[in-house]
Amino acid sequence: MLVRLTYFSRALRAMSLADIRDILQTARRNNADRGVCGMLSYASDWFLQALEGPREVVNDLFLEIADDPRHQDVIIVSYEVIAEPLFADWQMGYVSDAGEVARLLAELGLQHFDPPAMSPAQALAFLRALGELEHSAAA
Ligand SMILES: Cc1cc2nc3c(=O)[nH]c(=O)nc-3n(C[C@H](O)[C@H](O)[C@H](O)COP(=O)(O)O)c2cc1C
Repeated sequence: MLVRLTYFSRALRAMSLADIRDILQTARRNNADRGVCGMLSYASDWFLQALEGPREVVNDLFLEIADDPRHQDVIIVSYEVIAEPLFADWQMGYVSDAGEVARLLAELGLQHFDPPAMSPAQALAFLRALGELEHSAAA
């Protein structure tokens, strides 16, 4: 059974690009081995992440991530059974261009990146849009 778990959390301190790279490197390595894919965003000290894959694997990975001392106040936004992953192309996608992120937020009618204020549908739409952006940048 495949699931998608989306959560947000607050970084314990401001993350540098090197910090994000470190997280992405681990995520991409481990997620490829585990058959997990997803999308991570980080801005204004918030993380928003979707994880997709086999149910047991995603559940275990989430517990591991939630325990990570780099963030706190981890809140699940949605948890759903899915027929197919939305983020199949990314072991863990990420977009670092703040201007692009601001544009996507504006398209969703949001002024800034504030995951607690996002509905589950908005959170997913935002992560999907990031994925499409990465896709077109890579093409
Ligand atoms: C916001 C955030 C997102 C993370 N996402 C992932 C992920 O998708 N996959 C992963 O394996 N680790 C992720 N990590 C790292 C894990 O918490 C943990 O450090 C890692 O699984 C340990 O792997 P290792 O034992 O191979 O070093 C994330 C950490 C943070 C702070």
